[in-house]
Amino acid sequence: MIRLYIHPLPVRLWHWTNAAGIVMMILTGMQIRYVGLINVLSFRTTVLLHNTIGFILIANFFLWLGYYLSSDRIKVYHPELSPREHFLGAWRQAYYYGYGIFKGDPNPFHVSVYRKFNPLQSMLYQIIMMMLLPIQFYTGILMWDVKRFSAQVDFFGGIRVIDTVHVLIFIFLVFYVLAHVYLGTLGHTRTAHFKAMLTGYEDVDEVAAGE
Ligand code: HEM
Repeated sequence: MIRLYIHPLPVRLWHWTNAAGIVMMILTGMQIRYVGLINVLSFRTTVLLHNTIGFILIANFFLWLGYYLSSDRIKVYHPELSPREHFLGAWRQAYYYGYGIFKGDPNPFHVSVYRKFNPLQSMLYQIIMMMLLPIQFYTGILMWDVKRFSAQVDFFGGIRVIDTVHVLIFIFLVFYVLAHVYLGTLGHTRTAHFKAMLTGYEDVDEVAAGE
């Protein structure tokens, strides 16, 4: 085994702030959505908390974006430009998670410093970071001050449309967090990926790392 430094400090700071924040957003979001059914905090306090954490997450997103835009590590987010390679890799990875892993097959993907995401992660993280989170932040800001942003709200078809998009992404994030944490346990030990996201270092097979 050799140690690779795959998660630089800004990424780790962003990630754990984001993870804690999103979990809080899900909990406060549920209370706002199901007001009357869930009453852990008062409605006012919940909305205040949801808005404040929302703005912290937006600022935190720029830590992630700023870091990657100013670092050569952005290569980890470069898409595979050959659709054939991409879909073959994605299929191999999905087959492994859905079947191979239960037979004890080895993981078809090997982490390296500039290629730390398998094809499924690579596709999903791009969609989440470059599309879903920005849309979630934007729709959140529009609903935070509907009057001030009424022109934009009307442009997109009204508050119902904005709210529906916000709730659909919220539902997606609930399932994403569950799947993401489960997949996080599939390293060479149960805790390997979590430790790597805390320390920055992942232990990898020498043969695989040499590829
Ligand atoms: C709630 C608990 C969470 C845990 C325990 C967790 C755990 C992890 C771990 C272990 C990794 C490194 C392995 C990998 O790349 O898959 C990781 C990476 C990542 N996670 Fe999470 N995560 C959590 C929540 C979230 C949330 C809520 C989001 C986004 C909405 C998120 C987005 C990401 C992204 C984009 C990466 C790759 C980061 C990069 O290197 O640029 N995670 N997570």
